[in-house]
Amino acid sequence: MLSTLIYRSRASRTFDLSLLDALVAQSQVRNMTLQLTGILIFDGSHFLQVLEGEPETVNQLYDAICDDPRHDGVVELMRDYAAKRRFINMGMALFDLRHDKPGAVLRAVIKTGALRYNLASDDRVYKFIRTFVEGRWKKQLAYSSEPESWGFLSEAPPFTSPPEQSFLGQPCQFALQPIIEPLRGQISSFEALIRGPNGESPQDYFASIPPDKLHETDLSSKAWALALAKNINIGSHKISINLLPMSLVKVPNAVDILLEQIDRNGLVPEQVIVEVTEDEVISSFDEFSSAIRQLRSAGIGLAIDDFGAGFAGLSLLAKFQPGKIKIDRSIVTDIHAHGPKQAIVQAIVKCCAELEISVVAEGVETVEEWCWLEAAGIRRFQGFLFAKPKLNGAPAICWPHRRG
Ligand SMILES: Cc1cc2nc3c(=O)[nH]c(=O)nc-3n(C[C@H](O)[C@H](O)[C@H](O)COP(=O)(O)O)c2cc1C
Repeated sequence: MLSTLIYRSRASRTFDLSLLDALVAQSQVRNMTLQLTGILIFDGSHFLQVLEGEPETVNQLYDAICDDPRHDGVVELMRDYAAKRRFINMGMALFDLRHDKPGAVLRAVIKTGALRYNLASDDRVYKFIRTFVEGRWKKQLAYSSEPESWGFLSEAPPFTSPPEQSFLGQPCQFALQPIIEPLRGQISSFEALIRGPNGESPQDYFASIPPDKLHETDLSSKAWALALAKNINIGSHKISINLLPMSLVKVPNAVDILLEQIDRNGLVPEQVIVEVTEDEVISSFDEFSSAIRQLRSAGIGLAIDDFGAGFAGLSLLAKFQPGKIKIDRSIVTDIHAHGPKQAIVQAIVKCCAELEISVVAEGVETVEEWCWLEAAGIRRFQGFLFAKPKLNGAPAICWPHRRG
């Protein structure tokens, strides 16, 4: 099988560019041996490389290339399969925009493609090359993330820590994880994550519930999440609770029960956000829509969890617009190095800005991911980088600060 990989990167400040020809010569020899073909284009600061070959070989080389200190900010743009090689005779050829004009480089690249008809103008590989050579990609993405300029300081949040024994005997427990606005130093809300009676995982907890009791138990468990909010003295902070949409449909007077739980714990509906997942909403939308109306008219907020992980995506927003969406961790992970994920997030950010929907990125684990997402316009984050969930309490938060 023949795979094609394209990435873009930036020459590192420490790379002596007079050694570029030597790098290309070495790569040319190695690629020939590995039966890899492709090209490298350099514009004076950034590289675009096309690699073609056996998937395994391409992946191995790409891993080595990603770790190479001579460049940084490596972003994978395309991975695809092809019937034939585009650069059949090229172990690796360099096209240098410092010496040649874009038109000349483009013509040279097309001429190089041994299978010229493969580089037709509607070919994605050709389009990536043309966008790079013409410098148009810089308009698409001028995000400069500076992960190296941030340090983190852990700070205990100003909440009460209730004694552990006060949670003994509960049918379930909750762990709190904050959603924060790192650059404003603000906590935006706490998500209450369900655990079993002894801190077991949500999967284990739900597996222990008989299917015919699922929705009733789901709804009644929220009383313990709201009680925890009261116990830690959450004040005017917001609390997010996860609910199966069908719990609001199947349990009679579900919204009234929820409102009663909120009131009993000294909270107001406006500080509670119900999170439902994209797939659950879509699969039961018609039944769920009246519950949405009731929730909203009671003042309770609504957020779509795991956005982008399911089959609805942006089209969900044509049906209704929640106050908040949480971009799924599968899109967030390694976003700084992944062009397709970047394009998806840019579309989500633009769409949500027009609809005045808040965007949260969840599952943020590295400073690189956070920096890219901040630069893309996201302000609210949840993830291990900032705070891990804490059972029966609010965890310490690692706030970023600029070094120096
Ligand atoms: C922009 C750029 C492009 C590269 N392209 C290739 C290439 O096509 N083939 C190759 O063997 N090495 C290439 N390298 C060098 C690799 O990163 C790595 O140094 C080389 O594969 C040796 O890896 P190893 O020390 O793990 O064996 C490139 C490096 C850079 C910075």
